[in-house]
Amino acid sequence: MENKKICGVILAAGLGKRMNSSLPKVLHKILSKPMVCYALDCLSKISDIEKTVVVISHHTEKVKDIIKSNSVEFAYQEKPLGTADALKSALSVIKDSYDLILVVTGDTPLIKSKTLESVIDFHLQNKNSLTVVTFDASIPGAYGRIVRVNDEISQIVELSDASEDIKKITEVNSGFYVISSSVLPLIEKIKANDKNGEFYLTDIVELSIKEGFKTAAFKAADEKEFFGINSRQELLAAQKVLQREIAEHWLNNGVTILDTESVFISPEVTIGKDTFIYPNVVLEGNTHIGANCTIYPGSRLLNVALEDDVVIKDSTVIDASKILTGSVIGPFAHIRPGSTIGPKGKIGNFVEVKNSTIGYNSKASHLTYIGDSELGKDINIGAGTITCNYDGKNKHKTVIKDGVFVGSGTQLVAPVTINKNAVIAAGSTITKDVPEDALAVARTKQQHIDNWTLIKQRTKKD
Ligand code: UD1
Ligand code: CA
Repeated sequence: MENKKICGVILAAGLGKRMNSSLPKVLHKILSKPMVCYALDCLSKISDIEKTVVVISHHTEKVKDIIKSNSVEFAYQEKPLGTADALKSALSVIKDSYDLILVVTGDTPLIKSKTLESVIDFHLQNKNSLTVVTFDASIPGAYGRIVRVNDEISQIVELSDASEDIKKITEVNSGFYVISSSVLPLIEKIKANDKNGEFYLTDIVELSIKEGFKTAAFKAADEKEFFGINSRQELLAAQKVLQREIAEHWLNNGVTILDTESVFISPEVTIGKDTFIYPNVVLEGNTHIGANCTIYPGSRLLNVALEDDVVIKDSTVIDASKILTGSVIGPFAHIRPGSTIGPKGKIGNFVEVKNSTIGYNSKASHLTYIGDSELGKDINIGAGTITCNYDGKNKHKTVIKDGVFVGSGTQLVAPVTINKNAVIAAGSTITKDVPEDALAVARTKQQHIDNWTLIKQRTKKD
């Protein structure tokens, strides 16, 4: 590719009325990633693009909170007056001069950077001033129709303005354009549409041809990359495509997925070889799974790092935590943010862990809460143990050193430290630090009232 200065523009200020939602359309998620981030990530992979401007409006202001990147700038479109007006707002914040502007829509999450690179190449090689990306649509629906004269693009007609003949055209506008800086002033000449007062960027085609600029269509081979999402039905359809693409990628990379229809894997997720994924598993965000792991049905992992040989048993939720080699988690476990478990840790059923470290070969197998705690190695936590970490105002820490045995039904009232190899008797409420190698018993002594049952029966009869 010739070395040209390119600026990307993502149009993302539209209301997205057809979504019927209070959330801006471009923030609706596909496989847990907001739609607009697909376009952004795609542009960020194209090395010739120096900067990207995202056009937002007060309706889509929340986009700003989602996108945190130094190479992105935001432009405000005061009112969503149409795609041409949106591009105009972008140009007002682009201070440096660029040779080319690549315009993409924020509602096309299936787009691939390789395709856009070919579009830029096509534009440069043919010395075009304006390139419109088009495709043959199996369902042309509401896409703008491409009118050709002598094989060359001459006009884009929006559906609402199309005659019956034009409606029959199957080549449509993708909403993606490469525009050379010389053509940009023509935006000022675009007139409002008679029907709705909107300024259509599509009108730039006719103006550019009229002014003698070399204007051409790049017909893309794969229509699904340009699938524009306007409704929740279309969102679902796009998700299905992406879900299958991602699952197939991992199948081809040595991962077993038993049911690609019910497993949801976000684009950023990575999975090691010989990992086995059962149905109804959701892997979200920056989740990285090692080799030879097994994830049983119904589990959801969000921003989780799993080392090799980890087993996640059924219906387990793990959020922003690390599970180290050889650990077994679940079934029905809840690992909350900031936790590290293992190597060879075991967290069993109905155990909740929050912001805690559980060291090598330590186990909490049943019905337990471990919060704000630091556990060493070779520890056994008995069933029904609770770290009482919260006093109503502040959180406090529990420290359990190597080799400790905590008997069932224990409460550890933090802040508290249980030193090495100590044993806590079942049913204890521990409020003081326990010395190394000690047995701590903190429960009322058992008493017997002789013949109590017989006495009770006698008093009933009286
Ligand atoms: C647009 C094109 C149509 C093309 C289709 C491809 C126009 C007039 N029509 O139609 O030819 O086939 O895309 O998907 O351009 N936006 C703004 N500000 C606005 C209006 C829209 O930023 O004032 C943004 C939207 O957020 C969206 C994109 O521009 O990301 C496209 O807008 P949308 O309303 O979806 O256009 P379409 O009707 O799909
Ligand atoms: Ca659209």
